[in-house]
Amino acid sequence: MKQKVLVTRGVFPEIVGALSQRFEVEHNPDDRPWPAEELARRLQGKGGVMATVMDKFDEPLLAQCPDLRVISNIAVGYNNIDLAACTKRGIRVTNTPGVLDDTTADLTWALLMAAARRIAEGDAYVRAGDWKIAFGVQYFLGQDIHHATLGIVGMGRIGQAIARRARGFDMRVLYNNRTRLAEADEQRLGATYTGREQLLVESDFVVVMAPYSAATHHLIGAAEIAKMKPTAILVNTARGGVVDDEALVYALKHGRIAGAGLDVFEGEPSVNPGYLELRNVVMTPHIGSASAATRMTMCRTAMRNLTDVLEGREPPNLVNPIPA
Ligand code: DGY
Repeated sequence: MKQKVLVTRGVFPEIVGALSQRFEVEHNPDDRPWPAEELARRLQGKGGVMATVMDKFDEPLLAQCPDLRVISNIAVGYNNIDLAACTKRGIRVTNTPGVLDDTTADLTWALLMAAARRIAEGDAYVRAGDWKIAFGVQYFLGQDIHHATLGIVGMGRIGQAIARRARGFDMRVLYNNRTRLAEADEQRLGATYTGREQLLVESDFVVVMAPYSAATHHLIGAAEIAKMKPTAILVNTARGGVVDDEALVYALKHGRIAGAGLDVFEGEPSVNPGYLELRNVVMTPHIGSASAATRMTMCRTAMRNLTDVLEGREPPNLVNPIPA
């Protein structure tokens, strides 16, 4: 008899097809997020689940799912999962590291450039028919990217991919990270390690690329924003909650910094209503890894992780090693 698995969101038909060759698959063709109660109900009898960062796996939910052996997140982040509770219950957790670094770095740069050069604002202006005078010397003045200073908070794989892209803009790159990179890596990336305060003070662009945890909650709040230049731009493509949205809305509204590019928000898909009134913020709906090729690779990686656990092999991307 085939083992049963659940896929919590709409994924590519090829993935459902490939999974169905080995498992009895229940999936979510209409892509409607399932509330916790429904998720728990659908997990009954399932040995594995392929999930997204919007699906919360906490102790109360896990307690209702005695058959669950693997949670395979279609994401590199796994702050939606209570890891300690999973480990205690012998549930393996996997993620998809490595395959989305360049795609997420690309989107980070898209937001940085859009915020610096006021792209979304200019687009809205043209569409609204407000462009009446052909060329204005002081129209839509933004910030130069070339030769500016880029500060990266969180220098893991994605942070490094962001730094690599700065070379083409002749930028000075500062970074702050829990652990300092090896000297050879710093040289390869052309990046200089600094304390967080110095990074905030000296950077024209501050990019946040730290995973969310209790330790990084509101890593960038009012005190940190106050240290930034009034011309600086903040970009967050990491996780909602790493930046204090309330503090950022206040700073943007009062011209404390020049702008922001945001792909992630506290409590998403709800967005702090303050942002919606501001022209100096560019927003995207958590699409950092959303290129067609990368999302397919993420799904394939997640499928491999799930399959390996359920078929008794060590998955390539196990987050919580469980003693035998
Ligand atoms: C990730 O991989 O963590 C992205 O945020 C997509 O969820």
